[in-house]
Amino acid sequence: MSSWDDVGFPEGWRLVALDEAESTNDEIRLRVDEQEGLVVLAERQTAGRGRRGAAWFSESGKCLTFSVLLRPSEPKPLWPRLSLAAGLAVAEALNRIGLEAEIKWPNDVLVRGKKICGILVESAGDRAIVGIGLNVNTKEFPGELEATSVFQELETEWDREEILTLVLKALEGWSSEIGAGFGNLLAGVKERCWLTGKRVRLTAVDELVEGLARGIGPQGDLVVETPAGVRSFVQASEIRLV
Ligand code: BTN
Repeated sequence: MSSWDDVGFPEGWRLVALDEAESTNDEIRLRVDEQEGLVVLAERQTAGRGRRGAAWFSESGKCLTFSVLLRPSEPKPLWPRLSLAAGLAVAEALNRIGLEAEIKWPNDVLVRGKKICGILVESAGDRAIVGIGLNVNTKEFPGELEATSVFQELETEWDREEILTLVLKALEGWSSEIGAGFGNLLAGVKERCWLTGKRVRLTAVDELVEGLARGIGPQGDLVVETPAGVRSFVQASEIRLV
């Protein structure tokens, strides 16, 4: 049992709090037939993962590592927009507790240019799994990580339940705006887009591209001015500043 069991939760969400899981994304996949709105949270992940199979570091009992089960009514090609929805929800939640959070397209949230949250969206049949790793009370990170936490930014420990509740409330709204209401979601993301105006190098499929990030396009794509002209990327990995 965990201390999360009596958390008062926003309506529509149901929490399963575990002391340990390999990965909450995998854990929720085992419960994929349950109703949407299920939230699986773990105090400790033994095989937490990020995009492209990278490991996800989170200090036991100090972070928010959780996954949410959704059943979007929109067609699957629009589901990658859930990354933007989750990023915006986290950024808004962090704003509410006094942090200037920005979105590093497509699925990181940064504070002062350092990563505070990573998002991993996966699908399982007609369900979408939104995994969120948010650094809350972590005091130190392994040397190679350019990361930050709520504690490092505000110099005080923060109630993780309060932040989780804020994220879920915001996510409830934004996750339903990946289709018809995408304009609103897009506006929120554009406002907080960390890459806009920065020179970037990114890998798109097998191609290395360098240029000036112009911002987010009408489909939620990243628009980059390259020597070969203005290009738009729906997906990219390894986005770095140059
Ligand atoms: C990334 O930055 O590459 C995405 C990181 C996503 C981490 C979260 S933690 C909760 C959920 N469970 C996982 O194994 N990964 C996601």
